Amino acid sequence: MNVEERIAFLRAELHKHNHLYYVENAPIISDRQFDLLLGELQKLEIEHPEFDDPNSPTRRVGGEVTKEFRSMPHRFPMLSLANTYSKEEIEEFESRIKKLLEMEVRYVCELKYDGAAVSLSYKNGVFVSAVTRGDGEMGDEITANVKTIRNVPLVLRGEGFPADFDIRGEVVMDRAGFQKLNEDRVEAGFEPFANPRNSAAGTLKMQDSAIVASRPLHCLAYNLASNNLPFEYHSEGLKLARHWGFSIPPYEKVVEGIDGIMEYINHWDKARKELPFDIDGVVIKVDSLKQQEMLGFTAKSPRWAIAYKFKAEEVVTELLSISYQVGRTGAITPVANLKPVHLAGTVVKRASLHNADIIRALDLHIGDKVFVEKGGEIIPKITGVVHDQRALFAEPIQFISHCPECQTLLVRTDGEAHHYCPNEDHCPPQVKGRIEHYISRRAMNIDGIGTETVGLLYDKGAIKDAADLYELEYEDFEGWEGWKDKSIRNLLEGIEKSKEVAFPKVLFAIGIRYVGETVAKKLAAHFKSMDALKQASLEELVDVEEIGDKIAESLLTYFQNAAHLHFIERLRQHDVQMELEDSGALLSDKLAGKSFVISGVFIKNSREQLKTFIEQHGGKNVSSVSAKTDYLLAGENMGPSKLEKAEKLGVTIISEEDFENMIQTH
Ligand code: IVH
Repeated sequence: MNVEERIAFLRAELHKHNHLYYVENAPIISDRQFDLLLGELQKLEIEHPEFDDPNSPTRRVGGEVTKEFRSMPHRFPMLSLANTYSKEEIEEFESRIKKLLEMEVRYVCELKYDGAAVSLSYKNGVFVSAVTRGDGEMGDEITANVKTIRNVPLVLRGEGFPADFDIRGEVVMDRAGFQKLNEDRVEAGFEPFANPRNSAAGTLKMQDSAIVASRPLHCLAYNLASNNLPFEYHSEGLKLARHWGFSIPPYEKVVEGIDGIMEYINHWDKARKELPFDIDGVVIKVDSLKQQEMLGFTAKSPRWAIAYKFKAEEVVTELLSISYQVGRTGAITPVANLKPVHLAGTVVKRASLHNADIIRALDLHIGDKVFVEKGGEIIPKITGVVHDQRALFAEPIQFISHCPECQTLLVRTDGEAHHYCPNEDHCPPQVKGRIEHYISRRAMNIDGIGTETVGLLYDKGAIKDAADLYELEYEDFEGWEGWKDKSIRNLLEGIEKSKEVAFPKVLFAIGIRYVGETVAKKLAAHFKSMDALKQASLEELVDVEEIGDKIAESLLTYFQNAAHLHFIERLRQHDVQMELEDSGALLSDKLAGKSFVISGVFIKNSREQLKTFIEQHGGKNVSSVSAKTDYLLAGENMGPSKLEKAEKLGVTIISEEDFENMIQTH
């Protein structure tokens, strides 16, 4: 097999395994085997840019940055559906159709996925572009971002697809992925997203497709559009599209009359809780394309389809009081205590209010009758106040001024949604929270110790920070109620084992504000050790991919604090990892010691890929040109000031092609 054939083989294999994993949920090779194939393809593609393919499986990782989304017309308008919340209107829809057609009608009932609509174009079996719905006529081109969604086929499978067609679908975020994303965000000190829909829609419009690639998005297809569709029934089209590689949840049902439609609606109104993603209703479509054509359209929507929307479950109850919780980062979260009420199968007593702005926006008073809703979100929320039932002298809610746990005066920085308790070293929930974070699964993953044990150890005065864990001894636990030999040994072993945990996790575990898992990984990969990171200047920090001013300043503040430095030194003395282990994963050391600035737009590789190549060959990426820079890798449309500066400083300016030559193996 020559190189070209090998590349084609690897791409086909990777497309296949990608489909098996992300569409069929039935992988047949391990993640590691997949990564090996991908690694080999990546390497061959660098060495042989002449065989480039924009739909190569290597392009899924993203990296392309879209500064401004281009507006693009839809070849077939993206219509919306008539919506209703009433079953009577569904009955009217069905009898209207019967009357208009005067023949037998079959309907396809489908789920109404709750996300952001997109239209994907395919030509000769390959993905060409993706556009948002926009106003239905024109949308924004988001191709680079959609390419990173793993269940969107870049190359179609099988045969029989039209040479040129669009397929419409909804981009959704699954609930589990959404929850994890929000946990990460809160952990890193960011505001959580309100619900999976907002989160999916927001992600699609992000400029950096590498971030999009890291988010748990899925595209669920529901409609095909083309001048020559090779089928006569919509339900048939869905089946064919599945064969071509699209993800279409297997829940559509072909029914004959109103009874079948109602049965479907009633079933999914209940069963929707069990789906891994949110739906906000069901869609009923006339199955025959010929009949669809006969029925035609009104000004806004097709006459042959209608959406039945589920009501968000909502009740009215009384707001009894507000409690304030202090988190690990010192952030204060107000929580509404409600008169217990039944809602969507559970008894609701509390609702999160997030921050002071939300309380003010709702204009909440104690004793108010409030609307409580459980929509897609897991935690119920207050959506409004029954104003005409407010007591005459009801007190508006005054946000607290002092920490409920340690009585320190709270602070609120401009632009921050949260109030904070600044007493980070002595406010009990903050101290305990930090230790809990340190031992948590995604951080140091210390077995044999949980939230309760941390609370116990702290309350007994045995630990005051995470470094104290390493000084615990067997005798410390002797005589403790409920503690047996085995559990003590377990705990001490778990602590001992945490000394093997890799540096990026340690960096995440020590709990610097805004340094979540991903940021910690980026910082560790860049600086390689705690010492190097400690000494980094603001400029050096913001030079790192994805590190902005806010994170950089948080790092500087952290390392300026002598207590923190002492804490890190104590961890180090206990042999906690403070630097990256030599990865040995470099492809070569051709670029060892060389620093690169990348600027402009590139034709063959995305910027992110170029950066990866630089690192894989031992080089270093920096973001601004200085006298220390070795190379300026210049693409098209690069800013004149950078070029001028590079020329003035005598930095070697190279093209994409020059760069590829530098790292070729032969
Ligand atoms: S069919 C002409 N089917 O709901 C038919 N739409 O207002 C066009 N949606 O913008 C839509 N699930 O984003 C259809 N199974 C489904 C759907 C669905 C979600 C969205 C779609 C559309 C909106 C309808």
